[in-house]
Amino acid sequence: GEQDAQYLVSKIRTIPGFPKEGIVFRDFLPLMADAKAFSIMIDALEKTLPVPVDDIDYIAGLEARGFLVGPPLAARLGKGFLAVRKAGKLPPETLKENYSLEYGDAAIEIEQGIIRPGDTVLVVDDLVATGGTAQAATDLIRRAGGQVVGFSFVMELVGTDGMKKLGELPTTSLLTMPA
Ligand code: PRP
Ligand code: MG
Repeated sequence: GEQDAQYLVSKIRTIPGFPKEGIVFRDFLPLMADAKAFSIMIDALEKTLPVPVDDIDYIAGLEARGFLVGPPLAARLGKGFLAVRKAGKLPPETLKENYSLEYGDAAIEIEQGIIRPGDTVLVVDDLVATGGTAQAATDLIRRAGGQVVGFSFVMELVGTDGMKKLGELPTTSLLTMPA
């Protein structure tokens, strides 16, 4: 409930001006380090799934911080985990998608053939700001033949267009933070 949300917020570290001026960095590693907060977070993600659990074949997490949230949730739900990696880390063959971040351009990759046509995927990450990362992951998973059914985020930055951009698919976030 509200108390749990307050507890989670109390474990988010805020660093204004990192990694560059104008960006307010929201660090959830203190939340991960706190056993009670970590457990509340995974419980809450399970309780607020944007689609019925039976409609999900895979949980996909976005490197790096999505790798901290996705696997414990996938294990809890009894689903497989798909790693969407930053470009250059996976051996061939891969599918690659370029995108822009608040602080520069980036590219992500997924292993060719790891998704079968029609597989349904819930995309998980620590945070949505512009939505560019989640949108790139969605485009990549679709190109691989998968069907993105929704998004689960720990934090949502208000005043960014992220949630609007992803608006056509069911999306939940546990915490709403000022950008
Ligand atoms: C951060 C965050 C999200 C993304 C959100 O990742 O973890 O993945 O930005 O921003 P967006 O909605 O504007 O795309 P980042 O690529 O900075 O680094 P990470 O490797 O630490 O996850
Ligand atoms: Mg990230």
